[in-house]
Parts: sequence; C-alpha cells; structure tokens
Amino acid sequence: MYLCSRFLQLDFNMKIFSTIEDVKSFVQQQKLNNQKVGFVPTMGALHKGHLSLVKTAVAENDVVVVSVFVNPTQFNDKKDLEVYPRNLKADSELLESAGVTALFAPTPDTFYSPEEMNNTFQFDFNGLDAVMEGKFRPGHFNGVVQVVSKLFTIINPDNAYFGEKDFQQLAIIRYMVKKMGFNINIVGCPIVREESGLALSSRNALLSEDQKKLASNIYAVLKESTTFFHMTTVAELKEAAIKAIERHDGLKVEYFEIVDANTLLPVTKWEDSDYIVGCITVFCGKVRLIDNIRYK
Ligand code: PAF
Repeated sequence: MYLCSRFLQLDFNMKIFSTIEDVKSFVQQQKLNNQKVGFVPTMGALHKGHLSLVKTAVAENDVVVVSVFVNPTQFNDKKDLEVYPRNLKADSELLESAGVTALFAPTPDTFYSPEEMNNTFQFDFNGLDAVMEGKFRPGHFNGVVQVVSKLFTIINPDNAYFGEKDFQQLAIIRYMVKKMGFNINIVGCPIVREESGLALSSRNALLSEDQKKLASNIYAVLKESTTFFHMTTVAELKEAAIKAIERHDGLKVEYFEIVDANTLLPVTKWEDSDYIVGCITVFCGKVRLIDNIRYK
C-alpha cells in the first residue's frame, strides 16, 4: 500500500518525494552543488540484494536517490501485479539506515499520464527482447524501458545500479542508454544469495519455508553444471539441467537458455563465444523465479 509521503517524511531524516517536480528540483540542486548522484531504481519489497546495490551506490557517490515504484506497465500478467509484495514503511527504514539521501516513491497516476499508462511507449530492441524473459513476458521489457528511461530523464544521475540477477534487463538497459544517448554510467552488481544458494528476490516473500528449500535446488543444479559443462554439448547440458531441476516435485522450468552474454543469442557450441551465461526461469508452485550462471 502507498503511504502519503508527507506523513512518512515525519519519521525520517532521508528526503521522501512523491512528485516528479520535487525530486527533479532536489537532484538539480545537488548537481549545481557539484554532488555526484547515484541512482538505484527498485520496485520495493527490499532485500539484501537491493541493499548491496544501495551500499555500492552510497560508497561511489555523494548523493544517492532510490526509487520505489511497482511499475504497472511492465507486468504482462495483472494477477502478478496485484500480488507483488509492497511495504513502503519497511523499505524507507532500510533505505534510511543504509545512508540513502532521498527516496522517490510516486504513485502510478502521479508518475504516468493516462496515455503512458496505456502503453503507447514503443522501443526498438533490435532483437534483444525476442528471447527468454522477453519471449515469455510479452511487453515486459517495453514497460521496463519506459519506466527506466523516464526515471533517468527525471533524476539524470551520474551512475545507476542494477542487479545481475536480471541479466537480460541489464543488457537491455545498457543498450537503451546507448541508443537514447543518456550520459549515465550503468553499474552491474553481482547476485546476492541466501546461504542455501537461492538468489535473493522480492518474490521469495511469496514462498513458504519448504518452497524456499525446494527452490534452492535451482542454483545447486546450475552450479554443478559449471563443473562439467566442457565435457558435454550445449544441448546435452541444457537437457540434463532441466531434468535435474524438474526431478524435484514442485519445480517446473519455463526456459533455460545458454546464450552469448553480449548479444543474448543462444549458442550451440561452447566455442561460439568467450562470454557465455545460462539464464533460467523456474516456477516454484505459482511463484516465478529467475537466476543465471556464468560458464565462460
Ligand atoms: O528490476 C526491477 O526491479 C525493475 O524492473 C526496475 C528496473 C526497477 C524497473 O521497474
């Protein structure tokens, strides 16, 4: 649930903004004072993965702005949008204690015009969205580029921080920055995992304790596959990994693609590229989890 930022502000030293004009003029003032601005866009329900991005941003900039906005235009499944976890008060506490300067938490109707809400935005991905998440979540990356490009225009940071868990998203953001001509340095930050190996995600809040244990098999299988990949073909490895994951009742692989990390195009041989990652999406019950692993 959204809380009015004016009430929330009473409890925090960190600045809290809900309108585009307020956050924009705050950041402009910081830039006039020669402050280096770092930016971490999020959809809230913050966990240690987000906090590692925030920590890096705090260490590398004078001023750090974090946005918390569950962006409706990137959800192709409205049910998924409804159940997406939200907790602005807890998020604000975490961000303040992490040393964040300002939180930007707009509501959809203050952030988007009615036309923008109706997905009039269209971006040419040059094929980067034709595979993996883009293929299984039509329109998803269009919404991501819409929100991130709008946030970049408002905040205009020096550095912006994204997690490597969303591998395809990071590649698309880098492409968008080049294509749209933003002068912003994109910093990719490593995946943070539970002790069990499960990649941290806001969606983990929707898993029971038993499902969390079950879901840790995803990384266990991926990690093991890096120890023998060079002894198999790409196709054999894919098949073996999917089988090993689906052997666990309650896990269903949506896709597992082994791709060139720069083009995101599937490779058929290990010699096809010097930089190869495996990207996977698995349903644990109804919860959709993503992860990835580097082979080369
Ligand atoms: O990775 C996310 O949480 C979202 O896709 C992002 C980048 C904040 C855009 O809504």
